[in-house]
Amino acid sequence: MPASFQLRLLFVCLGNICRSPAAEIVCRAALNKAGLAERVMVDSCGTASYHVGSKPDARMLAALQRAGYSYGGHRGRQLRKSDGESFDLIIPQDEENLDDVQRLLRGCKAQIRPMSVWFPQESELREVPDPYYGDSADFDSVVLLLEQSMPQLMAYVNERLSE
Ligand code: 4NP
Repeated sequence: MPASFQLRLLFVCLGNICRSPAAEIVCRAALNKAGLAERVMVDSCGTASYHVGSKPDARMLAALQRAGYSYGGHRGRQLRKSDGESFDLIIPQDEENLDDVQRLLRGCKAQIRPMSVWFPQESELREVPDPYYGDSADFDSVVLLLEQSMPQLMAYVNERLSE
């Protein structure tokens, strides 16, 4: 990891093929737009091992493409204990992911904050819904929710960078 990164973010979901790789891609685009890509590192992983080494789900990639994003080559990997030391902020996508991360990384250095912290104020959702058993509209909704969360997340990133 280049020493130039001042903040390291890790998005976490269950399989690391739908929500967290989408969050990684949408966040990287937001960081690029904000001129922060050289200062903030982003990655994603899953709590489960089912999809280690896999590309993101084709339905997620299609939804991202519809929204104007391109896939950067991420392959599925599983959360490891050392992530709690090598990242500054770990962002579970749903409440089960949050419980799992808190249990697996108990006492870690990283701060753990659920994605819902940055949802738009008007959202009634408490987590990023799992689209795996859904249809293409569910995948589009995940991308939209992540996009709508980026202004709040970028504001938080800026705060952390100015500490
Ligand atoms: P993700 O979605 O956690 O957003 O990557 C899922 C991926 C795989 C499965 C469930 C959810 N699965 O049951 O294999």
